[in-house]
Amino acid sequence: MVKIGVFDSGIGGLSILREIIRQLPGGEIIYLADNHNHPYGPRSIDNIYEISHGIVSKFNEQGVKHIVVACNTASGAALHRLRENFPHMKFIGMEPAVKPAAERSISRKVAVLATTATLSALPYAGVVERFAEGVEIYELPCNGLAEAIEKGEGHKVIEPMLRDWLEPVIEAGVDQIALACTHYPLEYELICSIAGEGAAVIDPAPAVVRQLIRVIALDGNYNDNKLKIRLYSSAAPAALKEASAKYLGKSYRVASWDSY
Ligand code: DGL
Repeated sequence: MVKIGVFDSGIGGLSILREIIRQLPGGEIIYLADNHNHPYGPRSIDNIYEISHGIVSKFNEQGVKHIVVACNTASGAALHRLRENFPHMKFIGMEPAVKPAAERSISRKVAVLATTATLSALPYAGVVERFAEGVEIYELPCNGLAEAIEKGEGHKVIEPMLRDWLEPVIEAGVDQIALACTHYPLEYELICSIAGEGAAVIDPAPAVVRQLIRVIALDGNYNDNKLKIRLYSSAAPAALKEASAKYLGKSYRVASWDSY
């Protein structure tokens, strides 16, 4: 059975995991919520790389060959170095959806919601340079948003934060909103309701999982028909269990990452 390691700084990667559950017919998924180190967003690029390297080393020791870096911040900061250091492993990472946003935008104005680390990492600058010529990009470093979602804050707290960021850019004519932090699609409906009819909201999860399936298929490794999900947490397992019930529709058993 193909083993796939998936990690994020916390519950954000559940937006990818729920799409894996929708699309992938079989395999063993080992999901780590690294909530001990949450949030990654305000950390330095080197520190995020060290944390990611530690996680991937452990997956590697357990014979995992496919890794989904279900975190834009870790993908931006660490993916290229992880690929260099673990050349026998296959990585699927997050890339801010600037390309589809720019292609679909009629007003030629798009917003990118992400952490500060994602917006300051080189891969983000690369996608903007390659795909957004002539497009005005409104970069929104949504400080505190991933943390609020991680804490399970309700819409009373989250909605005013989102309105403060989104209303001015919608007013300015933005018609595409790229969610470039995996925590944010967990509030997809709320974001769509604030965006209104004038702006489309892009959740990258379906495209990322299609890419995962292509990679597994290329390895000739795609004949499992039973999906096994195992959840781990580096701290606060109860919070991940609760989030699994809320976002995956099933309360999973959560083990400690130390026990993996
Ligand atoms: N879910 C994460 C991302 O995609 C990170 C949030 C954080 O730890 O700051 O960027």
